[in-house]
Amino acid sequence: MREFRVPGLILTGSGSSLGIGRILRMRGVRHAFVVSDWFILATAGARAVLAAIADAGVQVTTHDRVTGEPTMEMVERAHRDCATAGADAVIGLGGGSAMDVAKAVAILMAHDGPLTRFEGAEKVPGGRVPLACIATTAGTGSEVTRFVIVTDEARDRKMLISSWEAMPDIAVADPDLTRDVPSRPMVAAGIDALTHAIESYVSRRSQPMTDPLALSAITRLSRALPRVLANPRDDEARAEMSVGALEAGIAFSNASVALVHGMARPLGAYFGVPHGMANAVLLPAVCEFSRRDATDRYARIGTAMGVGDGSGDGRDTVTAIADLCRSVGVPTLSDLGVARDAYDLVLGAMASDAIASGSPANNPRIATEAEIVDLYRAVWA
Ligand SMILES: [Fe+2]
Repeated sequence: MREFRVPGLILTGSGSSLGIGRILRMRGVRHAFVVSDWFILATAGARAVLAAIADAGVQVTTHDRVTGEPTMEMVERAHRDCATAGADAVIGLGGGSAMDVAKAVAILMAHDGPLTRFEGAEKVPGGRVPLACIATTAGTGSEVTRFVIVTDEARDRKMLISSWEAMPDIAVADPDLTRDVPSRPMVAAGIDALTHAIESYVSRRSQPMTDPLALSAITRLSRALPRVLANPRDDEARAEMSVGALEAGIAFSNASVALVHGMARPLGAYFGVPHGMANAVLLPAVCEFSRRDATDRYARIGTAMGVGDGSGDGRDTVTAIADLCRSVGVPTLSDLGVARDAYDLVLGAMASDAIASGSPANNPRIATEAEIVDLYRAVWA
């Protein structure tokens, strides 16, 4: 049996985020707690969303304290503010970090903490306040996923909550809100989304309901990302990226990610490499490693990218992925501030953390710890 879930309501298209207030009001919401950060809340797009919510008769309390990737402290502070405000719905407005904090707050508004109680798979009991996530980047897909990632400072580790209760009730992917994203974060978000699509398509947990979404996302993202970078006013390409990231999010929420994500997380934990860039650095080499055990799937990914007729061995696909990463300016690890000697010292630890995350077990070709160390060495530049 395969299980496939999506949020009950998904809004897409230019201006779609302006409809959220009316929908919340119709659902009986009186007071929404909006989790975001100060940079996003200063943008014209976010201000218009907040005004539309208020115009619909829903009181708004904003929280602008999500600074970087979520931590327990950030979640606890947001939860305190939400409880003090007496809100009866939570909205995440931002990238993956704001949306993940919003998900955690919605869980804590319904269930006693600490959040660590809910670490792992399906540990969140049913019932919580309404939760909407409005994405301002075309990347993480968090608006449609069941995942929450929060760093637990006390244990110095990233905690993963994987629960259908963390999936928002309403997801919004409005391309207009991505206009304020600078080009480098746009690349990171776009390649992150492409990695979600590729990994969910080759995942051992891929399924008939996720495959078409993954392939569609690969086509949209691989075509649209270079166009948006070349011309930030290309609204058609921006809309394609927005839908592509959403499709990729649905695909990986139901089929999981694999070795690239498993290896990317330690690069973030040990060296602070941003999530999307860590994926981007690893993606071509890990696809080349994995291709042998899923040649047909990699060949079809190539077709989705406009390369080959799907009958090859996937080699052209890997070349196309590497070319795409190069053309959009994916930096090297040394560009990202990783020092070679420090990197060499933790290769074994990173490989074992990657395996412990569980994601590499979904990869078509299962990598040993030694092979993961070799892959980390191979991507060094
Ligand atoms: Fe990701």
